[in-house]
Amino acid sequence: MTMRTLIILASLSTAVLGGTLMEEVTNAGATILIDLLKNVSLDKSLETDYLTIFAPSNEAFANLPDDLAKRVTSNATILASVLEFHATRGIFRAQDAFDNLQIDTTLPGAKIRVNAYNGASQGSMFITTNGAKVLKADIQASNGIVHVIDKVMLPPVGNFYDLLTMSTDHTALKSLVDQNGLKQVLESTTGTLFAPNNKAFEDLNNYIQSKNVQGQPVGEAMKEIIMYHMLRSVVYSAGAMNATYVTADKAEKLTISVAADLSTAKINQANVVIPDIAATNGVIHIIDSVLIPEPYATGLAMLP
Ligand SMILES: *[C@@H]1O[C@H](CO)[C@@H](O)[C@H](O)[C@H]1NC(C)=O
Ligand SMILES: *[C@@H]1O[C@H](CO)[C@@H](O)[C@H](O)[C@H]1NC(C)=O
Ligand SMILES: *[C@@H]1O[C@H](CO)[C@@H](O)[C@H](O)[C@H]1NC(C)=O
Repeated sequence: MTMRTLIILASLSTAVLGGTLMEEVTNAGATILIDLLKNVSLDKSLETDYLTIFAPSNEAFANLPDDLAKRVTSNATILASVLEFHATRGIFRAQDAFDNLQIDTTLPGAKIRVNAYNGASQGSMFITTNGAKVLKADIQASNGIVHVIDKVMLPPVGNFYDLLTMSTDHTALKSLVDQNGLKQVLESTTGTLFAPNNKAFEDLNNYIQSKNVQGQPVGEAMKEIIMYHMLRSVVYSAGAMNATYVTADKAEKLTISVAADLSTAKINQANVVIPDIAATNGVIHIIDSVLIPEPYATGLAMLP
């Protein structure tokens, strides 16, 4: 072989295979990820293992709220878990994605949920991983693939019911779920849960009391009202559009409206106060008022 042929072959193989994952993640600009991996001695795996890396951009790390960033980076065990959640063994390409696919990660037992959405303003189809949008897909490395994502993913710590149980701001919703025998439904149904906070239930109770009405919706009515808060599809904020969505139980309609700059969203009349809390069975958005289906909504509005 001539020297010229050798050089061409060498450059071809770099073009096809790329550098190591370490080099490709660095080239893609995700340098904070590399620093964090080094801090918990996980960086070597990017040279030696065969992986797909979901690499949060530096901006994604900068966008983490300060208290959360501190909690993640100041404890090596937590940091290592979060970083392990951003890798899967073997090759996962964008073309392998379909809505609600769950992929194992290098964090034992923890899965990433993939969703495929039509863009609200973007027009074309795009992919999210646990709600993080894939900004640059399929960067080929010699020992794997890199996808750059726009958010840091946090491993879900439980299903809908577990998360309500852990929250101090959802004791009202949690006790209604218990009273109405819906625990198992919240543990096992995949979808989206809009979780009104305690203030939302307090406001509703105050309204009902101000109308001098005795008691509360009970039985099937209360069950239906709670179940009206769950969508059949997993809708992370990145994929939310101005549209009506179908609830999991009775296929009732909820209207989502998204601000033009995509910064805020409403579900019917309720504001989303905290979006995108990943659960093992979908996503939770915390809202500031209770959603009431018909005919109860009209009934409440017409209280004397
Ligand atoms: C890595 O650890 C060093 C030493 O504790 C620290 O100064 C640095 O900020 C850490 N890197 C990141 C990205 O947190
Ligand atoms: C780090 O977090 C783990 C898991 O939550 C906890 O068990 C451990 O005590 C923490 N370590 C420190 C030093 O805070
Ligand atoms: C959703 O609809 C509202 C009201 O018509 C509009 O102001 C807003 O720009 C729309 N949002 C998007 C993302 O198109």
